[in-house]
Amino acid sequence: MSNSQDKTFTLTNDQTGESYKLPVLDGTQGPSVVDVRKLYAETGHFTFDPSFTATGSCKSRITYIDGEKGILQHRGYKIEDLAEKSSFLEVAHTLLYGDLPTEKELAKFTKDITYHTMVHDQVNYFFRGFRRDAHPMAVMCGVVGALAAFYHDSLDIWDPEQREISAHRLIAKIPTLAAMTYKYSVGQPFMFPRNDLSFSENFLYMTFAVPPEPYKVNPVLARAMDRILILHADHEQNASTSTVRLAGSSQANPFACIAAGIASLWGPSHGGANQAVLEMLDQIGDKKNIPEFLERAKDKDDPFRLMGFGHRVYKNFDPRANVLKKSCDEVLEDLGIDDPRLELAMELERIALEDEYFVERKLFPNVDFYSGIILKAMGFPTSMFTVLFAVARTVGWVSQWKEMIEEPSLRIGRPRQLYTGPDARDFVEMKDRK
Ligand code: SDX
Repeated sequence: MSNSQDKTFTLTNDQTGESYKLPVLDGTQGPSVVDVRKLYAETGHFTFDPSFTATGSCKSRITYIDGEKGILQHRGYKIEDLAEKSSFLEVAHTLLYGDLPTEKELAKFTKDITYHTMVHDQVNYFFRGFRRDAHPMAVMCGVVGALAAFYHDSLDIWDPEQREISAHRLIAKIPTLAAMTYKYSVGQPFMFPRNDLSFSENFLYMTFAVPPEPYKVNPVLARAMDRILILHADHEQNASTSTVRLAGSSQANPFACIAAGIASLWGPSHGGANQAVLEMLDQIGDKKNIPEFLERAKDKDDPFRLMGFGHRVYKNFDPRANVLKKSCDEVLEDLGIDDPRLELAMELERIALEDEYFVERKLFPNVDFYSGIILKAMGFPTSMFTVLFAVARTVGWVSQWKEMIEEPSLRIGRPRQLYTGPDARDFVEMKDRK
C-alpha cells in the first residue's frame, strides 16, 4: 500500500465552504481508496454505506477480485491455474503463508493437517443433543464453536504458535465434523479419519464409508472434490469473511470466530445459495416453466430470486462458475449420471443471459449455480451443500483472521450509524401510558 503524498481527494462542505483533503491510498492491484479515518474528527460527519458497496474494510494481501474482468487471484495466482494445477492443501498453504509451497513445505503442511483431523472423543457427545433432522449448518455452528471448550492450549491469539495450531486444527477438524454431521443425520456410525488418504479422499471416506465393507475412493470424485474446495476457499471480504474479521477484532478466540463465519455463510444470499439453487431447479421442474420463473424473479413483489445468479462484485462472469460448469460435465459423465437438472440449469442460464432484465443488471451465474449439481451427483444431500462450502472457506477465514491478528495494530471493529429514531424524551410512568 502506498500513500503517494500528492494523491488526495478534496471534500467541500457546500454549506460552510470548508474544504478537507483526504489522502488516497494505492494498492498493488485494483481501485485506490480514499482514507476517511480522520473524516469525523475533521468534519463531524460519518460516511454512510450500509451494505459496504463502496467501503474497503481492511488491507489484505490474500485475494484479489476484479469483478468487471472476472478475475480471481489468490496471492496473485489465477483461480483457473490453481483449480487446474494445484491441490486444496497446496492452495491452503498459499492462502495461509503467502506462497505456493515447495515440495518439502507441502509435505510438512500435509502432515500437520493430517495429524489434526481427529476430534476430541467427547465432541461426539455434542451430536447426541441434536435432532437427527437438524439442518447440518445448525449442527456445525454448534460443534465448531464448542471446539473452544476443548483446545485450551491454542486460544491465545497473541502467541504465534497457538495461532498456527488453532489454524491447523480448524482446517483439519472441520471436514471431520462435517462428515460426522452427515453421518449423524443418516443414523450411521462416525468414521474415523484415515492418515493414509489425501484431504479430499479422507473427507469422502469419512462421509460415505460404512464399517461393514471396504470403501474405495473414486479418484475422479476425489479430484472433483478437491477442485470444488479450491474454488470455494477464499473470496476477499465477503459477508462471512467480514463476520470472522469483525468477531476476531474483539480478540475472540479463533474457534468462536469461525463459528460466526459459518453462521453468516448459512444465509441463502451467501453460501446457502447452492442448496437454494437445487431447490429452485426442482421447483422449476421443466424447461417449459422457465419463462414463468424468470418473470417471478423480475417481479419486485415476488420474493423469488434466481438463486445462483448475480454477485455483488462480479459484473461480467464468475470465473469459478466457468470451472465448475466444466467439472460438472466431467463428473456426470464419469458417473454415467444424466441429471436433467444440468440441462435445465444450462437452458435457464441461456434464456436468462438473453433477457434484458438480467443483462442490464449484469446478473450472471455465480459459484453456486453449478456446484450443487456436482455435489448431488457425488451423493451429498442438498442440506450438506453449504457445509461443504464451509469446509472450503474455513481455509480463507482462518487465513484472513491470521492476517488481521498479525497486523501491527489490531483495533476492534465498531461501525457508526445514521440515527433516525425519536428525539430525546422524558420517561413515561406506566399509569400515564396510553
Ligand atoms: C456467494 O460476496 C461474495 O464474494 C460471495 C461469494 C463468496 O465466494 O463468498 O461469491 C459466495 O454468496 C455468491 C452469491 C450467492 N447468492 C445467490 O446466488 C443468491 C441470489 N443472488 C442475489 O441474492 C444477489 O445477486 C446477491 C445477494 C448475490 C448480490 O446482491 P446485491 O449485490 O446486493 O445486488 P442487489 O440485490 O442490489 O441487486 C441489484 C439488482 C436488483 O434489482 P433492481 O432493484 O436494480 O431493480 O439486481 C436484482 C435486484 O433485485 N437481482 C436479482 C438477483 N440478484 C440481483 N434479481 C433476480 N434474481 C437474482 N438472483
